[in-house]
Amino acid sequence: MRKKTTTSTYQPGQSIDSVMKKYGLRNVVKLASNENPYGPSPKSLAIAKKISNSVNRYPDSKCYDLKYNLVAYINKPHIKLNNIIIGNGSNEILELLARLYLNDKSEVLFSKHSFLVYKIISNAMHATIVETKPKMSQGFGFMGTDLSELNKKITKKTRMIFIANPSNPTGTILSVKDLDDFIKTVPKRILIVIDEAYFEYSEYMGMTNCIILLKKYSNVVITRSFSKVHALAGIRIGYGLGSDKIISNLDKIRQPFNVNYVAQAMAVESLKDKKYIKSSLISNNDGMLYLKKELDKLDIKYLDSYTNFLTIYLGKNANDVFEKLLENGVILRPLDNYNLKSYLRVTIGTRQENISFIKSLKKIMSKINA
Ligand SMILES: Cc1ncc(COP(=O)(O)O)c(C=O)c1O
Repeated sequence: MRKKTTTSTYQPGQSIDSVMKKYGLRNVVKLASNENPYGPSPKSLAIAKKISNSVNRYPDSKCYDLKYNLVAYINKPHIKLNNIIIGNGSNEILELLARLYLNDKSEVLFSKHSFLVYKIISNAMHATIVETKPKMSQGFGFMGTDLSELNKKITKKTRMIFIANPSNPTGTILSVKDLDDFIKTVPKRILIVIDEAYFEYSEYMGMTNCIILLKKYSNVVITRSFSKVHALAGIRIGYGLGSDKIISNLDKIRQPFNVNYVAQAMAVESLKDKKYIKSSLISNNDGMLYLKKELDKLDIKYLDSYTNFLTIYLGKNANDVFEKLLENGVILRPLDNYNLKSYLRVTIGTRQENISFIKSLKKIMSKINA
């Protein structure tokens, strides 16, 4: 399906305050935006307090300290300071890449049900969006990116391919081997963006990240986020990894002080606090297992997930369940604007939040099934 500039706007999850006001509730659980429910590392919070009185100064334009820490954290000889760019969220890096590669004559490829930002930034560049069929065979990766479909849609005009790995909102993942086999066949003039916003979760679940592909291919960029397991969504910080050449081209078009002072320092401390991050990953895993077990009991199907969320199938009841959950003080994410009207996305919360969600869901389903 080829589409010229359609209008799509990103619809964020509803806020706790607005739901409290609308339904007159005292307690509201937000499981709508794939945030880490435990908050930032105590080390990140401490540094933020310590340096907040210095925000009269401009931040380090080159984010040197953070890049230096990322080199150590990634710990691969092919990732050096020149292979890293820091952004005001990974969304900024995605947008800079679109600005660099796309124009009104180019085509951009991604799978149907991909992260909406790819559509927004491609539209902004007046590029032609080609959305490919997702994997339709049941089993591993169902509804995720089908690489053979992407391959079929490559034309002379294709300039960019976006692949989220793991993907949002489907939660699905592709193996590095499958990605490698695909990238081999893609002409080198096409940039392949692998969006690894959730890679810490998938790694914890036994999958390998895609860093190795940067050693083999100069037309691959990886983007990553501090908004997910690092719990810094509100302060906006993420990074991109790629060849010296691509990174220096991105550096030429970014704002000089694109990443604020507090965000840089909090990200550095979060990278160092491995113990805290691990505890978030463990809790996420426990929460995921609990939700899957309870959803199985309710006979509710869900997509494979290598992230901190589950995308659950509710068929024609999806909208009704979403509204009733809101009335009960539980905010999930409807997926209508991802063309997944029959699904709802639930972020793994704290133990208590997961229990509240299941309790409300059970109540609602028993009425629906009555
Ligand atoms: C797949 C994917 N990529 C990127 C992002 C954006 O992350 P950031 O907050 O770093 O801009 C998100 C956020 O939800 C996401 O789901």
